[in-house]
Amino acid sequence: MKFIKPYLVVVTTLLAVSCTSQKETTSLKDAYKNDFYIGTALSADQIEVKNAKEDSLIRKEFNAITAENIMKSMYTHPQKDKYDFVMSDKFVAYGEKNKMFIHGHTLIWHSQLAPWMEKIADSTEMKTFMKDHITTIVSKYKGRINSWDVVNEALNEDGTLRQSVFLKTLGEKYLVDAFKLAEKADPKAELYYNDYNIEESAKRAGAIALIKKIKVEGGKVDGVGIQGHWRLNSPSLEEIEKSILEYSALGIKVAFTELDITVLPNPWDLKGAEISQKFEGSEKMNPYPKALPDSIQNKLAERYESIFKLFLKHKDKISRVTFWGVHDGQSWLNDWPIKGRTNYPLPFDATLRHKKAYESILKLKKTKE
Ligand code: XIL
Repeated sequence: MKFIKPYLVVVTTLLAVSCTSQKETTSLKDAYKNDFYIGTALSADQIEVKNAKEDSLIRKEFNAITAENIMKSMYTHPQKDKYDFVMSDKFVAYGEKNKMFIHGHTLIWHSQLAPWMEKIADSTEMKTFMKDHITTIVSKYKGRINSWDVVNEALNEDGTLRQSVFLKTLGEKYLVDAFKLAEKADPKAELYYNDYNIEESAKRAGAIALIKKIKVEGGKVDGVGIQGHWRLNSPSLEEIEKSILEYSALGIKVAFTELDITVLPNPWDLKGAEISQKFEGSEKMNPYPKALPDSIQNKLAERYESIFKLFLKHKDKISRVTFWGVHDGQSWLNDWPIKGRTNYPLPFDATLRHKKAYESILKLKKTKE
């Protein structure tokens, strides 16, 4: 007994010390505060603080927010003469209250458009729409929304321009016009071009050409948003690194704006995030309906670790890393590209507990500093 007591005191003290230091550093935003913002995408319920536990997790871990859906044009501009800012007002107020970096997603995008927008068929009407839409929304939040996805997903996989309703009616001039209108409405807001798969070489070349052209024509582009809807084995770290280097060589910031890593089989080896692509489900395509096996949990943790290691190596070029959702239960990847699956793409699970991936991201900072 005599020997046990001092031993116990030492152990208890050690435990207490390590618990306190864990507490101090156990938050993504604090661990990475000198590197880049750590963001998340908020659902309507999260903006309205429907769940107190989720809310405290959001406030503890993240210092940047994007609205997952409510700032898309079908919600903010449902009819030609009608804007609806009820939810976006709440979103911005939430970010201000919690002193977070607020990102606006998105102004000009071919998906999740209001039905009336899809019917615009001539250039005069489209020009009027773009001017009214961008000016009204950006001015409304002037000085309050820190950065905008001015244009989202304008490119095809081969780097050519997507035949969107904007390109069809206005030609490629719509791109520079969008950036000019946004700058005029809020000269201080940071303006981004955002897309998926633009770390892949052909699409990356297209994105670089597009950004250069907008700049040459007098548009202000402050950054590129690489969405980062990725897989366990691709894209390669080499392609991601090349992208960081090549984009930042244009004199712009690089943000990873919608990061998640699917662990489920992909139909037709699908890459990217084209939200209109949908496939039939089957048991084979939904292998982990109850829980994620340890082996995959570990793979996910390793993948996140290597990605964040690379991000840290280039922290001087990276402005923000935003996860596409707070926790696995909320992820759009449970329903895309196949409805009703159970995916595990984020650092927090559906019960809000952190996963091994979270620890591996934090560990990179603990061992370094
Ligand atoms: C997704 C949302 O997460 C889903 O809830 C919605 O049903 C479809 O859109 N690229 C984007 C995001 O820029 O806006 C998309 O978000 C995912 C792909």
